[in-house]
Amino acid sequence: MLLDTYGRVATDLRVSLTDRCNLRCTYCMPEEGLQWLAKPELLTDDEIVRLVRIAVTELGVEEVRFTGGEPLLRPGLTGLVERCAALPRRPKLSLTTNGIGLERTAAALRDAGLDRVNVSLDTLDPEVFQRMTRRKRHADVLRGLTAAQEAGLTPVKVNSVLMPGLNDAEAPALLAWAMQEGYELRFIEQMPLDAQHGWQRDGMITAGDILESLNKHFTLTPEGEEKRGAAPAERWIVDGGPHRVGVIASVTRPFCRACDRTRLTADGQVRTCLFATEESDLRGALRSGAEDGEIASRWRLAMWGKKAGAGIDDPSFVQPDRPMSAIGG
Ligand code: GTP
Ligand code: 5AD
Ligand code: SF4
Repeated sequence: MLLDTYGRVATDLRVSLTDRCNLRCTYCMPEEGLQWLAKPELLTDDEIVRLVRIAVTELGVEEVRFTGGEPLLRPGLTGLVERCAALPRRPKLSLTTNGIGLERTAAALRDAGLDRVNVSLDTLDPEVFQRMTRRKRHADVLRGLTAAQEAGLTPVKVNSVLMPGLNDAEAPALLAWAMQEGYELRFIEQMPLDAQHGWQRDGMITAGDILESLNKHFTLTPEGEEKRGAAPAERWIVDGGPHRVGVIASVTRPFCRACDRTRLTADGQVRTCLFATEESDLRGALRSGAEDGEIASRWRLAMWGKKAGAGIDDPSFVQPDRPMSAIGG
C-alpha cells in the first residue's frame, strides 16, 4: 500500500511516457520547446511494465494513466498498453492526450486494452487554437476526439484551460458543443507549472469566473461531495441532466486532502504530487539490479514523504523545477 503520513492511500498511478510534445501551448512551454530528455534517460518499455507490475501487484495501484508531454508520440504505446492490460490484477487503463494522432490509433489502443481517454482542447476556433498552441492542428484534434468516441474509449473527457483574452469567453460555447457531441467537459484552472514561470495569480481565470459565465446560459446543480471521491474535478449537473460539467480548481479550491495519486516521470522518478519539490529515483534502482521488493520499499518510502497539499497560496510556495510537460499533468 502507498500510504502517506496524512492517511491518504495512492491507488492511481500516472506514468509520463515522454516529455516531448507536438504542440506548444502558451501556458505550458515556449515556442522553441524545451531541453528534452535524451533517449537513454527514458525508461524503456520493459522498465515501465516492470514498475507498473510492482505498483499493481505489490502496492495496491488500481488505475494507471499514461501521460506526457504527448504520450501518443511514444513509439510502441499500443504494445505498452497491451502488456499492462495483461498484468495479473489488471489495472484500469487510461490516456491523457492532446488528441493529435488519435484518429489513427484509437481503435488499436482500445483493442490493446485501453479503457478511456481524456483529450485537451481549449477552443472551438481554429485560429484561437493556433494562437494558444502555436500549431495549426485543430482539425486533427477534432478527428481524434471523434475516433475515440467511435472506438468506445468512453466516457471521453475534454480538458479546457481558459486564458484571459484568448478563449475565456468560450466557456458556454464549449459546454454546448461538448454536450452535443457527448463528451464530458472539464475546465481547468491554470496552474503555476509552466516552463517559462510566467503564471500569475491575478491573471488566471478562476473557477468562480467560469461558473459565473456558465450560469448565464445553463442551470448548474452541484453533484455533491459523496460522488466526487478522489477526483480533482468538482462536477455540476447541467440543466437537470444527464450532462455534467467539471471544474478542476487546483488553485482556488484544491482537493489535496483526498488525493490518491502517485506519479512516475518519463525518466523514472517518483513524484508524490504535481507540486512536489523532491523526487525519488526508481530508474537508478532498476538499473543497478534492485529486486522488486526493494523497488516497492523505495516507492512506499517516497509516498510517506508526500506533503499535505500543493500549497500554491502559501507565502513560501516555490514552483517545482520540472514543468507540467515533464511531470505528466
Ligand atoms: P479522470 O480520472 O478522467 O477524471 O482524470 P483526471 O482529471 O485526474 O486526469 P487528466 O489527466 O485529464 O487531468 C486533468 C487536469 O487535472 C490536468 O490539468 C492535471 O494536471 C490535473 N490534475 C491531475 N492530477 C492532479 C492532482 O493530483 N492534483 C491537481 N491539483 N491537479 C491534478
Ligand atoms: N495549468 C493547468 N493545466 C495545464 N495543462 C497543461 N499545463 C497546464 C497548466 N499550467 C493541462 C493540459 C491538459 C492537462 C493534462 O493539463 O491542457 O489538458
Ligand atoms: Fe503539449 Fe500538453 Fe504542454 Fe500543450 S499542455 S504543449 S499539449 S504537453
